[in-house]
Amino acid sequence: MKNNQPTIIVIIGISGDLSRRKLLPALAQISAAGELPYECRIVGITRQYDLLLSDVLTHVEKAKDIEGMIEFWNMELDKKDAYEKLGKHLKEIERGFTSPAQRLFYLSVPPQISRPIIELLGESGLASAPNTKLLLEKPFGVDFESAQELANHVDHYFLSDQVYRIDHYLAKETAQNLVVFRQDNSLFKRTWNKDFIESVNIIASEKIGIEGRSIFYEQTGALRDLVQSHLLQLTALILMELPSGRNFAEIPARRLAALNSLRLKGRVEENVIRGQYRGYQSEVKNHGSHVETFVSLTLESDDERFINVPIVLTTGKALAFKETKIIISYKRNENHESNQLILHLQPDEGVELCLFAKRPGYEHQVERHPLKFSFGEYYSRLPEAYEQVLFDAINSNHTLFASSEEVLASWRILDSIQKTWAMNNNDLLIYEPGSKIEQIIDKKN
Ligand code: BG6
Repeated sequence: MKNNQPTIIVIIGISGDLSRRKLLPALAQISAAGELPYECRIVGITRQYDLLLSDVLTHVEKAKDIEGMIEFWNMELDKKDAYEKLGKHLKEIERGFTSPAQRLFYLSVPPQISRPIIELLGESGLASAPNTKLLLEKPFGVDFESAQELANHVDHYFLSDQVYRIDHYLAKETAQNLVVFRQDNSLFKRTWNKDFIESVNIIASEKIGIEGRSIFYEQTGALRDLVQSHLLQLTALILMELPSGRNFAEIPARRLAALNSLRLKGRVEENVIRGQYRGYQSEVKNHGSHVETFVSLTLESDDERFINVPIVLTTGKALAFKETKIIISYKRNENHESNQLILHLQPDEGVELCLFAKRPGYEHQVERHPLKFSFGEYYSRLPEAYEQVLFDAINSNHTLFASSEEVLASWRILDSIQKTWAMNNNDLLIYEPGSKIEQIIDKKN
């Protein structure tokens, strides 16, 4: 439900890529849908004195719906008095409202800059002002220890219910739909366990490379970029116990329990494949870089509902095509065929169920056929994940945000991989850009 409390959204880093490509377009859509609070201002923090509104709104489809709300505020991000001045300015804006405003600080900045900003928001008193929220983007650390340290840093200045850790995959329509799908289809609800499911595969294949993000990617790699966050959150949605009734507020705790049940299956050397696309090293100007742009690994859960069900997570850049999907393979029957339920997240969000049917004719031949449902065929427009993220943060709904405990649990799952990789680089496979996932996996076998 729409929150009509006056709202100030402070985007720290308004001129950055995330803000231009995702946040401002999302805010414009929410505004066009009439779902922004009636009294709403967007304060864009920037160090650029000559920044033009037309420049940051270049990619914004419904720019007219927000341009009147936006103002820029120039400040140095490393000076405490700059935050105090900002605080005074926010109070001035508030004086024009009919009642006190909530303030959302969206940190749309590189990770190394987030830390001091959090500290200065705290030291300047902005963090403890009533109705203040902090929206954070990943990466939340680079391993368990650094994530723990970052979580402590945030906790030092903000209460946990002020903090919204964004994982935009949780806000994708099909990811949200997973709960409804599992809950409202008794056919799947009753068979969602080890007795019926043989394996779970989550695939996030990307056609793009690292798109100029050399510094970020050299410090990150596919495991930290996609697996620790997006793919493990999808895994949690698949494995978690369903909330009671429509009590969606229970979901973060259920996801956490699912993450806590997970561990790597077997040894890293046997069950984890990493690769790098040819040309990556010259792109990042680091010949000898061992950063992986592809990873595939197998997990298992000690939750008795899923014991012995392999969960395979695979992601890579510069692959043959863009496709994100979850494949639930059901147990095979005597003729070795297996039904599959495929939940498509991208490019066309939808659901596919693979069935077997007799091929018409005199011979008894069985063929696999898909039953397909695509959201695009029924709904003219699906909201972008960032629209949902911003709408929910404005409306204080934490369901689609990752808690610090979830972040830590997912780093714990990957801990042994990170430690093994830190000691040995011999297993890095080089693949050609445009490869298919199977071609890379075959190289290992
Ligand atoms: C981001 C990663 O979180 O997700 C990027 O940092 C990746 O490397 C992107 O390309 C993928 O998101 P989507 O929504 O396009 O699948």
